[in-house]
Amino acid sequence: KIWYTIALGLLLPFSYAHTDFFTSIGHMTDLINTEKDLVVSLKDYIKAEESKLEQIKKWAEKLDQLTDTATKDPEGFLGHPVNAFKLMKRLNTEWGELESLVLKDMSDGFISNMTIQRQFFPNDEDQTGAAKALLRLQDTYNLDTDTLSRGNLPGVKHKSFLTAEDCFELGKIAYTEADYYHTELWMEQALKQLDEGEVSSADKVYILDYLSYAVYQQGDLGKAMMLTKRLLELDPEHQRANGNMKYFEYIMAKEKEANKSSTDSEDQMEKETEVKKKDYLPERRKYEMLCRGEGLKMTPRRQKRLFCRYYDGNRNPRYVLGPVKQEDEWDKPRIVRFLDIISDEEIETVKELAKPRLSRATVHDPETGKLTTAHYRVSKSAWLSGYESPVVSRINTRIQDLTGLDVSTAEELQVANYGVGGQYEPHFDFGRKDEPDAFKELGTGNRIATWLFYMSDVSAGGATVFPEVGASVWPKKGTAVFWYNLFPSGEGDYSTRHAACPVLVGNKWVSNKWLHERGQEFRRPCTLSELE
Ligand code: OGA
Ligand code: FE2
Repeated sequence: KIWYTIALGLLLPFSYAHTDFFTSIGHMTDLINTEKDLVVSLKDYIKAEESKLEQIKKWAEKLDQLTDTATKDPEGFLGHPVNAFKLMKRLNTEWGELESLVLKDMSDGFISNMTIQRQFFPNDEDQTGAAKALLRLQDTYNLDTDTLSRGNLPGVKHKSFLTAEDCFELGKIAYTEADYYHTELWMEQALKQLDEGEVSSADKVYILDYLSYAVYQQGDLGKAMMLTKRLLELDPEHQRANGNMKYFEYIMAKEKEANKSSTDSEDQMEKETEVKKKDYLPERRKYEMLCRGEGLKMTPRRQKRLFCRYYDGNRNPRYVLGPVKQEDEWDKPRIVRFLDIISDEEIETVKELAKPRLSRATVHDPETGKLTTAHYRVSKSAWLSGYESPVVSRINTRIQDLTGLDVSTAEELQVANYGVGGQYEPHFDFGRKDEPDAFKELGTGNRIATWLFYMSDVSAGGATVFPEVGASVWPKKGTAVFWYNLFPSGEGDYSTRHAACPVLVGNKWVSNKWLHERGQEFRRPCTLSELE
């Protein structure tokens, strides 16, 4: 019983520490260091094994020479008393010592290192998560499979490509998700790379098996048959393929029969693709377009009214002598960006404070009102209080000075880190009328405004986009954006719906402050009209 409790106590911290690596680069850098340590330990092992072999080789060579001479003239050899003595000594002790050396296990250090580190390794869920992130990026950024596989991404510093085996793995993950579209793409890529002569342990028969099934599932019977034929050329006895072939022929024949009476099979195909397209919500398409930087353009007339200026926070004494740079990013809803508003040192401090506390970000489940993780918010985040560091406190004051809003009713500073594929799909920051309890426990009203610091540049992807109005805001280290989520009347402004696009290359750090209604009564008085 006691042992049981102790064992459980030992295991729990590890299972807690280990959650969703793929959601944050911050945690993955630890893994890189782990791997580096393991390589060092592996090299030590190799050295030890090599020096052991070296010793054994020397012994073998020495004895080879010796036995050569001895066997040529055994009696003459043993006539020398030293030789006789040495023969006794060798056989009585030295061969035994050599035996021990041969048996000696040099791998202890490396194996115990592996055992310790293995607890912190990613698991199947992490691997699947990282694979799904790749598929998500492929869709959002319209990347063709070959480009992704050859690693030809914009802004990459360390090019890396996928092997046929990797492609096969991605295809299998798509397959287990019943995502036959991506299964086809990735199995085809694996096959292509093998056809081009890539040396690999991936097996064409297996690939063709998956591929023909995925193609069949998507309704292309002719191609499915052709692929199955190819499979059978490689493995004529393949049971499932033989069965499928018969089935395909049967279906083909039946279709031909039906086609004689009506010729609208093409119509049917068209309808099917149409249905597939309709599955994508228009918002999703807009979101993805904005993420790719294919912004819906603002008219020149509107654009001309966007300005940049020096801003002193409405004659705030702290900014009168040193106003800050402010740029209009959008007019309606008004989104402004502050430049050089957080220093590199402050960013480092905030990141260091947040790192040990980063955990998978949660969202409000509208049905239960509880916090849960969701595929549409993939990042790690932590909350920092103004009490724990003068830097955080100083940042809070800065937000108060520049927005003119009271930060004492705001939520704590949230720090978020998005890894590759990390994103936050379109959402509102404020609570809607149908979820009046969203911020009830805070007792400070709804989220009146959002302040968002960009604490890193992002090599590719990772924009903050507003699909309702077509705005894309690109991350730039040291800047911050600000917008009101509510009209002065207290009504939610639905045009503020926004999203964090998946990071394609690099990693994204942001921190944000959600300001609440209470305390702003005199700072931002209400109006009589609802939607202003
Ligand atoms: C959020 C958010 C946008 C971004 O955290 O609520 O919208 O670009 N973030 O990270
Ligand atoms: Fe948001």
